[in-house]
Amino acid sequence: MASPSTPSLLFLIGLFFFISASADPDMLQDLCVANISSEVKLNGFPCKDAALVTSLDFFSQGLAVAGLTNNTFGSLVRGANVMTIPGLNTLGVSLSRIDYAPGGLNPPHMHPRATEIVFVLKGTLDVGFLTTTNRLISQSLKKGDVFAFPKGLVHFQKNSGRTSASVIAAFNSQLPGTQSLGATLFGSTPPVPDNILSQAFQTSPKTVKYIKTMFQPKK
Ligand SMILES: *[C@@H]1O[C@H](CO)[C@@H](O)[C@H](O)[C@H]1NC(C)=O
Ligand SMILES: *[C@@H]1O[C@H](CO)[C@@H](O)[C@H](O)[C@H]1NC(C)=O
Repeated sequence: MASPSTPSLLFLIGLFFFISASADPDMLQDLCVANISSEVKLNGFPCKDAALVTSLDFFSQGLAVAGLTNNTFGSLVRGANVMTIPGLNTLGVSLSRIDYAPGGLNPPHMHPRATEIVFVLKGTLDVGFLTTTNRLISQSLKKGDVFAFPKGLVHFQKNSGRTSASVIAAFNSQLPGTQSLGATLFGSTPPVPDNILSQAFQTSPKTVKYIKTMFQPKK
C-alpha cells in the first residue's frame, strides 16, 4: 500500500481539526427527518421517506407550559431535540426548557456534544461552570439574562429566589446528551464498586453506600 503524500496527509490532519472543532457534523441535504424506528445504526438517524415528511416533523408544543418540579432536586429539564422533533436530524440544533421550584437545583452535569446558552424566562438563578483547570466561572441571573456553558464542561443552575424560575436553553447539537455527576457515579447499573468511589472521593465505603442509596431509582 502506498503511503499518503505529505500534502494529502496535511489536508487530512487539517480536516480532522476542522471537523473536531465543530459540534454536530454539517448536513449534506435540505432535510433528513429522523426515522426514529429504523433499525439501521449510524451516526444520527436515517432519513424517513421524503414523501411522508410533514410540518409536524418540525413542530412541538412540549415546552409550552412549566414542568412539574416536585421531585428530589426541585427542577425539571424537558428537551425539544431530535427525539421529539425528528426534523432536527442532521441540523445540529435543539432546545430545552428547564423549570425550577424555589430553591430548586439542576445538579452538576455536562453535555458531551454541545455548548449550551440559556435565556431566563422568569425568576433568578445562580449558575456556573467549571473549567478543566478547576476554576469556577459563576454568575447570578435574572429575567431576560443570557448565559453560556461551554461544550463538555460541568455546570449547574440553582434557583436562588423565592419564586419559581424557568429558562430556555439552546444547544448546537440535535441531541446534546447529559451526564449528571451524582447519578452517573452513584446511580449507575451495574454500580461503580464502592472501593473505586471511596478512593476517588477520599471517603469511607460507608459514606459511599449512603450516597448510593440517594441515587437508587425510586420504587
Ligand atoms: C422507518 O424504518 C422502518 C424500518 O427500517 C421502515 O419499515 C419504515 O418504512 C420507515 N418509515 C418511514 C416513514 O420512512
Ligand atoms: C407532583 O405533582 C403532581 C401534580 O400536582 C402529582 O400528580 C404528582 O404525583 C406529584 N409527584 C410527586 C413525586 O410528588
